[in-house]
Amino acid sequence: MTDVDTGIDDALALLYLLASPEAEIVGIAATAGNVPAARVAANNLALLDLCRAPEIEVALGSAAPLAIPLRTTEDTHGPQGVGYAELPPSARALSERSAAELWVESARAHPGEIVGLCTGPLTNLALALRLEPRLPRLLRRLVVMGGAFNHPGNTTPTTEWNVHVDPEAWKEVADAFAAAPPDRRPLVCGLDVTETIEMRPEHLVRLAERANSVPALEVSADDPPGVRSRASNPIVRFVTDAVRFYFEFHRTWDQGYLAHMHDPFAAAVALDPALATTRPATVDVELTGTITRGTTVADWAGMWGREPNADIVIATDPAYFFDRLVDRVGDYARAVYEGEAR
Ligand code: BDR
Ligand code: CA
Repeated sequence: MTDVDTGIDDALALLYLLASPEAEIVGIAATAGNVPAARVAANNLALLDLCRAPEIEVALGSAAPLAIPLRTTEDTHGPQGVGYAELPPSARALSERSAAELWVESARAHPGEIVGLCTGPLTNLALALRLEPRLPRLLRRLVVMGGAFNHPGNTTPTTEWNVHVDPEAWKEVADAFAAAPPDRRPLVCGLDVTETIEMRPEHLVRLAERANSVPALEVSADDPPGVRSRASNPIVRFVTDAVRFYFEFHRTWDQGYLAHMHDPFAAAVALDPALATTRPATVDVELTGTITRGTTVADWAGMWGREPNADIVIATDPAYFFDRLVDRVGDYARAVYEGEAR
């Protein structure tokens, strides 16, 4: 079960899941965040078309965070949320269930089996918890991209985007998951580690080569902004157009011609927790600070006297992750469009 605010890197996370034979996506919840919820849902449906995926339920989430107006970030993710890529509208229907209902009913239908993956704000999951407080015990595991612990923020000096958009939701989820058994504590992928997951143009070359897509070399730091991909493989073309926008955004913020692949990393950890080294902590969210509202705080040493409610990812091997991403998504892109004109 995945909950996304698609989103350039959310789109790559979905591609990673679709490309992973061991993953069965029971549903996709669309959360308002990078772009409004309806746009997120439309992107998810269109992405399923691009991948010629079988029917997968996509449910619309709340239009706004729990307690504050929605803030979106088209400057980071492009006018439609997928960078320079343009996806034709899908004829697939949205679910009649809300995103919160999808969470609850899926977990109840498969108790102890479902891994929840959240790569956007936690609005829908918080609403789901209000409907079903037993969720922390009904899910097999929860994996979340969000927060910054011993690391600066990416939205304010101390806040990470997904938490910043809906801090109340993050707090409700963190508090509720204190009830999860220790071996099923949420895995939290914060900026400390996700900002080490640096995608660069050479990764796109490797992806294209693996997918048998031509031309393989399409993106260079010297290109003028907004050049469009001519890749023969439609999935590679989509990724290239999406990620180019993300490269340009990161360069605007003096981070280099690269893009942090926060969400695909979280997806990979959801499927294979062994990719991540973790450390237990008690996590909480500042809701009232004058300049720190939305800041995540990890009590590593038990100073608050509260049991850990999260396993925070503290290390990984980014090169190994990218090998997996390139292999999986490249093979998948080739297979989906096998035998078609180049
Ligand atoms: C997170 O914020 C979003 O913009 C990305 O999709 C990612 O989930 C990183 O802070
Ligand atoms: Ca996201």
